[in-house]
Amino acid sequence: MIVLGIETSCDETAAALVEDGRTILSSVVASQVDVHSVYGGVVPELASREHVSNINTVVDLCLERAWNRRSAWERVDGIAVTRGPGLVGALLVGMAYAKALAFALEIPLVGVNHLEGHIRSVPLEHPEAELPALALVVSGGHTSLFYLENQNSCREISRTRDDAAGEALDKLSKALGLGYPGGPVIDRLAPLGNPKAVRFSLPRIKSGALDFSFSGIKTAALRHCRLAEINPVEPEYAKRPERMPTALLDLVASYQKCVVDQLLDRLEKAWKRHDVRSLQISGGVSANSELRRRAADYFRDRAPVYFPSLLLSTDNAAMIAATGHRRLAAGEQDSWDLTAEPNLPV
Ligand code: KG4
Ligand code: ZN
Repeated sequence: MIVLGIETSCDETAAALVEDGRTILSSVVASQVDVHSVYGGVVPELASREHVSNINTVVDLCLERAWNRRSAWERVDGIAVTRGPGLVGALLVGMAYAKALAFALEIPLVGVNHLEGHIRSVPLEHPEAELPALALVVSGGHTSLFYLENQNSCREISRTRDDAAGEALDKLSKALGLGYPGGPVIDRLAPLGNPKAVRFSLPRIKSGALDFSFSGIKTAALRHCRLAEINPVEPEYAKRPERMPTALLDLVASYQKCVVDQLLDRLEKAWKRHDVRSLQISGGVSANSELRRRAADYFRDRAPVYFPSLLLSTDNAAMIAATGHRRLAAGEQDSWDLTAEPNLPV
């Protein structure tokens, strides 16, 4: 069965064709970074408009890359579209497009939870990852830990109480004039600084909960900038990062270390409380090189840690198609009343 996945929950317009829930025939992602970077973050109304102008081309390109033919619609058996969580206007573009296509082609349509998509991105590429597992989804909008007992059971065991990890990286980057999205920039700059130069403490959550919190370190970092007189960098440094002030590079390295420390701390506590066979880390921040390296070291000889490939870490539609496949293959479909749910829980 071949499923066309469509993803427009935030600032990436994406389409993918996936066969039998595991073979990616093509995956196209049109990033809107250039549009939003001027503003230092995603502007929801602009995101919706960009999705409207890009979606046709993205889907056409997706078919062409899979079969060298833009109009090979007869090969598509079903459509899976992200219905939430995300920006409501952005979600509506993908959903309206997916519904129209499914109606015209007379094929079934299912709505997919974006976070479930991220969780699914790991077994899509690592079918050997065993259950039960702990799944950490760490992105620009979410930071949550799930217990996956079996194929049909997924329970959220903790989440962030304020900012998401990616959001914390994006906010520091913006404050330092390093651009949007901040995660990849901080990832590149951190190795140039001393991660022990600035001390940030791990947030303590009362009652032993495994919840996350990132707004405290963001505030501490901004205070440090004021006290140490670290100002936003001039654009000329963009091409010569090694010339950036040492104090700024040290702050970036220490901040990224602290974000990764917290993720590993919660993951380890959860691992001690649950009998699991694997750890699965997904979402945009899972592309982070320090997180990848340290998670593998940290759990060496204790549990296998799986990440999606870099292309499937950040938003994409292959994970949406793979998630929708199970319901479509079981003969299920959603009705035309399906609505976008900006706060859809897993
Ligand atoms: O999953 P995603 O593409 O979109 C959401 O669902 O939010 O995640 C985007 C987030 C952004 O905050 C971005 O800064 C972060 O992922 N990110 C990274 C890296 N690449 C993207 N964070 C750290 N290191 C990276 N290499
Ligand atoms: Zn995402």
